[in-house]
Amino acid sequence: MRYILLMKLLIEQIKAIIDQDLPLMSNLSNASAVLNQLENINWCGFYIKQNDELYLGPFQGDVACTRIPLTKGVCGAAAREAKTLIVPNVNEFPGHIACSSLSKSEIVTPIIKDNDVKAVIDIDSPIYNRFNESDKELLEEIAKILAPLF
Ligand code: SME
Repeated sequence: MRYILLMKLLIEQIKAIIDQDLPLMSNLSNASAVLNQLENINWCGFYIKQNDELYLGPFQGDVACTRIPLTKGVCGAAAREAKTLIVPNVNEFPGHIACSSLSKSEIVTPIIKDNDVKAVIDIDSPIYNRFNESDKELLEEIAKILAPLF
């Protein structure tokens, strides 16, 4: 119950900080700070699609890979398949890109506008099995709120 309340709060915060008149990067920067309130995570942020690559956008956490081909990693797979991927154990995901040795599980949700994946939201956790259906619903709701900014 407490976790559901936190998620509702995060959605309200994202709605409150979004300003259509600001550059995309300003909005995504604050959105990453809102997401960083989630518990048991070590990285959260955005990868933005350009041509056939994802490049690093605003994030919170350690230095990360700057370019991910659509053919690689959890981010590439989520962008390619245009769907949320929950990875309970990153060591078991073929092609996982280990930006940080801390990361044990991961969730990636695409941001889709006009039937096109514009970016992905990526969150890493230092514990296995961190993410579930509630996290998926939260991130998909946030992706819908952010999509018109692209
Ligand atoms: N693990 C991701 C790469 C990005 S980092 O987690 C920040 C992947 O496999 O796509």
